[in-house]
Amino acid sequence: MGTAVRLTERLRAAGCVFAEEEAALLLASTDDPEQLERRVTRRTAGEPLEHVLGRVELAGRSWSVGPGVFVPRRRSERLVAAALDLPAARADATVVDLCCGSGAVGGAVLLGLPDGGRSARLHAADVDPRAVAHARANIAPFGGTVGTGDLWDALPESLRGRVDLLLCHAPYVPTSALDTLPAEARDHEPRPALDGGPDGLDVLRRVVAGAPPWLARGGALLFEVAGVQVTAATRLVTAAGLGVGVLRDDETDGAVMVASVGAAG
Ligand SMILES: C[S@@+](CC[C@H](N)C(=O)[O-])C[C@H]1O[C@@H](n2cnc3c(N)ncnc32)[C@H](O)[C@@H]1O
Repeated sequence: MGTAVRLTERLRAAGCVFAEEEAALLLASTDDPEQLERRVTRRTAGEPLEHVLGRVELAGRSWSVGPGVFVPRRRSERLVAAALDLPAARADATVVDLCCGSGAVGGAVLLGLPDGGRSARLHAADVDPRAVAHARANIAPFGGTVGTGDLWDALPESLRGRVDLLLCHAPYVPTSALDTLPAEARDHEPRPALDGGPDGLDVLRRVVAGAPPWLARGGALLFEVAGVQVTAATRLVTAAGLGVGVLRDDETDGAVMVASVGAAG
């Protein structure tokens, strides 16, 4: 039996649904048999494949991620696409990725702007230094900067009133639902990356209320929620004096909310 087949069987026995694909990725990740064995052991013990490989795919690119950091989800490509669809997604846009985690979402928006983000500015921020280290590795090569701290505290004052695209995939899982998450998330992603408080909107409540002074004219805040949170999130956006757009995704039962300042606002 070949190495790939044996590895696939080990991964399948450990409950990995995409065992064949994972075996190929693990085999391609190193030429060192001992390192391969360590990686397979971590994976079969339940660690997310992305943490084991140190890489994650989002929006057609590979980004750095690792233990202790939220693994960007493919559904966030909808937030990236929604941001790039807005009139504010100009070549010279100022982009902020708040609650950036690995920074892959902000990086993908930057690189999707006209002229590949070369004339744009990206600042990302997260409260967790482990996330900030990955975000820096991911976006500094494209000229992005990263701050550490609680929400707005990590943004330079010079960005006040200038942000065209304010991306914020914040934690939004209600505390009572954390136990229902897959073990990979529950056991390997930090709780502050997932826990959104009693109704899931604790962090987003502060983000939406605090966003208007940071947004430029015609700028927008984009964030993700679950379908059941859309009504409450809409109320938050309206109370902040922002226009509301809702892009529902029936496949994931989630939504991207677009909270925008009127062009004359
Ligand atoms: C759901 S994860 C999303 C990460 C990233 N945006 C992505 O899509 O991969 C939420 C992130 O918010 C960060 N976070 C939670 N509370 C925060 C706060 N008060 N200020 C800044 N970041 C915060 C967490 O550390 C975590 O990295």
